[in-house]
Amino acid sequence: MTRIKSHFVCEECGAVHPKWAGKCSTCESWNTLHEEEIVDQGSHLRPSLNVHSEAVAITSATAKVADRLSSGLAEFDRVLGGGIIPGSLTLVGGDPGIGKSTLMLQLSHHLAEASGPVLYVSGEESFEQARLRAGRLKTLHDRLFLLTETHISAIAPHLSAGRYTLAVVDSIQSVYSSQLPAAPGSVGQLRECANEFMRLAKTSGIPVFLVGHVTKDGVIAGPRLLEHLVDTVLYFEGEGRQSLRVLRAVKNRFGSTNEIGVFEMQDSGLKEVKNPSALFLEERPLGVSGSVVYPAMEGARPLLVEVQALVSDPHAGSPRRTISGVNPHRVALLLAVLERHGGLRFCDRDVFVNVAGGIRVEEPGVDLAVAAALASSLLNRPVPATLAIFGEVGLSGEVRAVSASRQRASEVAKFGFTRCLVPKNCSRDVTAAGITPEPALSIVEALKVALEK
Ligand SMILES: Nc1ncnc2c1ncn2[C@@H]1O[C@H](COP(=O)(O)OP(=O)(O)OP(=O)(O)O)[C@@H](O)[C@H]1O
Ligand SMILES: [Mg+2]
Repeated sequence: MTRIKSHFVCEECGAVHPKWAGKCSTCESWNTLHEEEIVDQGSHLRPSLNVHSEAVAITSATAKVADRLSSGLAEFDRVLGGGIIPGSLTLVGGDPGIGKSTLMLQLSHHLAEASGPVLYVSGEESFEQARLRAGRLKTLHDRLFLLTETHISAIAPHLSAGRYTLAVVDSIQSVYSSQLPAAPGSVGQLRECANEFMRLAKTSGIPVFLVGHVTKDGVIAGPRLLEHLVDTVLYFEGEGRQSLRVLRAVKNRFGSTNEIGVFEMQDSGLKEVKNPSALFLEERPLGVSGSVVYPAMEGARPLLVEVQALVSDPHAGSPRRTISGVNPHRVALLLAVLERHGGLRFCDRDVFVNVAGGIRVEEPGVDLAVAAALASSLLNRPVPATLAIFGEVGLSGEVRAVSASRQRASEVAKFGFTRCLVPKNCSRDVTAAGITPEPALSIVEALKVALEK
């Protein structure tokens, strides 16, 4: 289907308006609007993104590597892999009210200030609402342009005019194409509109951020479909603390997906948390059993977290296992190893394991810290406050080496720890970081040190 519509382009500044007016509302010049036809093609007729119709050797020097743009938020840049890639399409998902618009507005403001005009398409909020937020966040700027429009063919010309350094679409669920009879936010509309934004981003070189009302469980139509279409998928999540926000990349065509960015939501907007370890250890109780500090690796960055365990008498029926922040299957494995090789009995006790601060730790390097916390709680013997613990535990009770032991030990040193209980093979790295290693080959040896038996 090919439909022909028209809009009005200002000869002076290139701004696009849906209706004719004597004066351009963007640059305020008179009699500069002229009509232009828009040929709106069906998705099946859309030109390919691939500009080479001939095969080109991969070694050919024609490909130029575009410079990344800085978002002004180091935490955000790190998650993206070092900054924003021109022409990339990024989906920013998250629960309602988590702060997606706040984050995008702060990012837009920085780029408007540092690089050039930014287009913020607000499909959900009125101009006044969006302006009010911008005022509160102190993100008002002459080069930050708001467009309260939801029709894709009215948004597209703004992007294809190529005058912006960044475009944000808040949200993709509110944008629709009249080529489809379906309601905005339906799978068909999401696919159609996201595809169009992808084409616009690639052809204009403008990086485009799409805000999506999607949670990790993918409750709303289309999140998975959107994830496949876009270059990068970021999730903005609230962690255990009310004001703490964590940004993660779950897909990234231009960088790693291991990095996280930590922010704190304040009245004046999102503030970067430059030293998350300090934040996560802030409320750690000292001299209490069941608490162990573990140096986790989040991408290339070490992060100290507190692993907590509580072993108590069961209240009724079969004993409970309540685990959050670590893999429950690994905890089941560790309980079995502790029973078999450590001579400790958990089968008739309730077991709770938690990572303070609501952080999730996926790596097996947390095993030894979890095992020590469990044993510490069961025997009611605190782990020394100056001892940090990391290492993987095998089924035979052996303690195995983990990666990045030097970075982990260096982070531990920064926070006043003097000793580190580690797999034997990691001792040298720990010494090099200025920490006294407590090497262990087995879980039994490890528990002797951790509980000072
Ligand atoms: N003074 C304030 N006024 C409004 N919100 C505030 C204020 N101070 C902090 N906030 C925070 O800002 C959050 C709203 O942020 P934002 O609108 O960016 O979220 P969002 O993810 O875009 O939401 P939605 O899903 O509704 O689009 C609130 O949940 C609140 O935590
Ligand atoms: Mg919003």
